[in-house]
Amino acid sequence: MATGSPIRQATSLFRERFGSAPLVAASAPGRINLIGEHTDYNGGPVLPFAIERRTAVAAGHADRWEAISALDGWVHALEPQAPGAQVKGWTAYARAVIRVLMRTGVMPRGGRIAVSSSVPVGAGLSSSAALTVSLTRALLALAGRREPPERVIEYAFAAEHDEVGVTCGRMDQTIAVLAEPGKALFYETGSGTVRQVPLGTRVWVFETGVSHQLTGGKLNHRRRECETALSLLREAGRSITDLAGLPLDELPWAMRVLPAPWSLRVRHVVRECARTRAAAECLSGGDLPGLGRLLTEAQSSLREDYDSSCPEADLLGESCTRHGAWGARLTGAGWGGAVIALAPPEREARMVAEVQEEFHSRFGRPPLVWATSASGGARLERHT
Ligand code: GLA
Repeated sequence: MATGSPIRQATSLFRERFGSAPLVAASAPGRINLIGEHTDYNGGPVLPFAIERRTAVAAGHADRWEAISALDGWVHALEPQAPGAQVKGWTAYARAVIRVLMRTGVMPRGGRIAVSSSVPVGAGLSSSAALTVSLTRALLALAGRREPPERVIEYAFAAEHDEVGVTCGRMDQTIAVLAEPGKALFYETGSGTVRQVPLGTRVWVFETGVSHQLTGGKLNHRRRECETALSLLREAGRSITDLAGLPLDELPWAMRVLPAPWSLRVRHVVRECARTRAAAECLSGGDLPGLGRLLTEAQSSLREDYDSSCPEADLLGESCTRHGAWGARLTGAGWGGAVIALAPPEREARMVAEVQEEFHSRFGRPPLVWATSASGGARLERHT
């Protein structure tokens, strides 16, 4: 297989396995959520940015749907028309996008798809939205359709939420589509407003090596807990439409009214919303130490209140701050994945070395560590 960028890999994989050149190609980035975790499905704000790692899709016409990924290297028949097929793994996401686009009425009967990605899977960096968004862009181009960004977001969201069955919010698809180089996206999911905020610093990523599987898993369970908490608060007389609507100063009341664990979930969401808005202000004003403190507070909240951390992430977060980071926290859904850290440039090298050593001596293996700047969103690519 060819080496190089995902787009070159996807294109040459297509040629090798399908014997012709692809007609279209597209790519979309993974993301880091700086802060605002588990707020997007509760009507609150998020602050993600696109990473430099991307997923690329090359596609062409065919009589039936076939897909290959550099991940497993063999051609899968996708059969999107078959009802209720129990498909797992990346092909479930590919099939989901085709099903959503078929419902819009203008999809060809078949197609060939080759996928290559540099976004790590199960690391909390949204490899799933990188795939659904890049595939949506590629298949719309294959069908000769131009659609506005909001529609691309909705198609990719419907694929993951309605078809695959992960009860996610819209953060991942939104950043994968709207990201701009050098910017984070402050996105108020309740009102739908977005604002690009300059992010001039690079961010360090420490992979825990603990892979999470979202399909039918803990994210869905937490979301149900949030829905129960919302019902209980409404029964107690608060006419709010989502948990983010509970004012911060009513939190002490909510903590008395609700039993655990619902009280803890609400405390995380309401405080996380406040932290995220404060974090956007810090970033706008260039206050990176202030932003870092909010990241570290958010990590405590994920550990104590949302119960979505893991020992590997706890150690990484704590070790990063002890070795000079402004702040660190688990990013993405949690229960594994990756810890991000913001650190003054002169402390970065030392911090990375010390954290790697501590992690190795506790868990018997080194964590994967890399850095990224804020990158651009989904785009069509040259494919010749
Ligand atoms: C996953 C979901 C997102 C969001 C995060 C948690 O990445 O896809 O919509 O809910 O978890 O913040």
